[in-house]
Amino acid sequence: MKKRIFSGAQPTGRLHLGNYLGALRNWVTLQDEYEAFYCIVNLHAITLPQDPKTLRQKTLDLARIYLAAGVDPERSTIFIQSDVPEHAELTWVLLCAARMGELERMTQFKDKSQKGGRERSSVGLFTYPALMAADILLYQTDLVPVGQDQKQHLELTRDLAERFNRDFGETFVIPEPYIPKTGANIRSLQDPAKKMSKSDENEAGAIFLDDDADAIAKKIKRAVTDSGTEINFDETRPSIHNLLTIYQLVTGKSEQECVENFAGKGYGQFKGELADAVIEYLRPFQEQIASIDDDALHAFVKRGAEKARSIASATLSDVFSKVGMS
Ligand code: AMP
Ligand code: TRP
Repeated sequence: MKKRIFSGAQPTGRLHLGNYLGALRNWVTLQDEYEAFYCIVNLHAITLPQDPKTLRQKTLDLARIYLAAGVDPERSTIFIQSDVPEHAELTWVLLCAARMGELERMTQFKDKSQKGGRERSSVGLFTYPALMAADILLYQTDLVPVGQDQKQHLELTRDLAERFNRDFGETFVIPEPYIPKTGANIRSLQDPAKKMSKSDENEAGAIFLDDDADAIAKKIKRAVTDSGTEINFDETRPSIHNLLTIYQLVTGKSEQECVENFAGKGYGQFKGELADAVIEYLRPFQEQIASIDDDALHAFVKRGAEKARSIASATLSDVFSKVGMS
């Protein structure tokens, strides 16, 4: 039997090259080897205020993005989180196993609550990692491909699963994170101290998956660089390191080939070649996006939810019975 992977992304904001290189790209390769579940986590989305109409549209758009990136609905299960009520139900049980201190240590809550302040943040934003744990544990997941920013949530998921297994008997598979060596941590083009992000106020920091060639070229041209002139993977020069990492991933070249390619060349030429490479890399995806119609999407996610539910409901009834629900 194939091992299982599970991953998800939120249907908010605009997906960017960091999402693609850190997560989506790996989802596509891993589906050959694993039985894959890819979820559109709309329950997570409402931990921050969302406009209902926009959220509904973005939820379907994200399914379109998964397909255009190459997730194959014949092999992998694509579904919408709220279509499978077991996610919310298992979350409750896991919240009763989680400790305040554990959730208080989550750095993503600290980051995301900073803007509006802790007092005004939703309790959902605070308990978000338990919902993520429920997503993963319902499917007896072996491997979870994510970017670096989700590592701490994965550790919590493992802790909750181990605790539940210890207290109530073997119930959950303990999942392993899959964080790619290269690409798990793409930085902002405007400030390498920050990750490339959907919520960055400075749009020039992110290359969005729906940016046209012109916008991509402009953003790369305006990307900040470090002092010095050499183009190499020097960790102490984070801007060039980040740009060169993007170049490496979109061209599929080795580190050495990348460095050799730009030996003796200046930033201007490097940025030109990088822009061309990114535009080419995204082209098939962008062409594909336009060709997927809403009816097909509705059919895929409906079928996906049925498959997902059949597995999720078995795990949930085991959990309920173990904790003493009739
Ligand atoms: P999100 O946009 O938060 O729903 O994230 C979807 C996936 O993209 C998660 O696996 C994240 O870890 C990953 N991701 C988000 N931002 C980046 C980034 N800047 N670099 C690499 N991976 C990222
Ligand atoms: N929290 C993840 C993010 O913001 C999204 C997510 C929700 C997820 N549930 C998941 C990722 C389960 C992997 C597995 O990126």
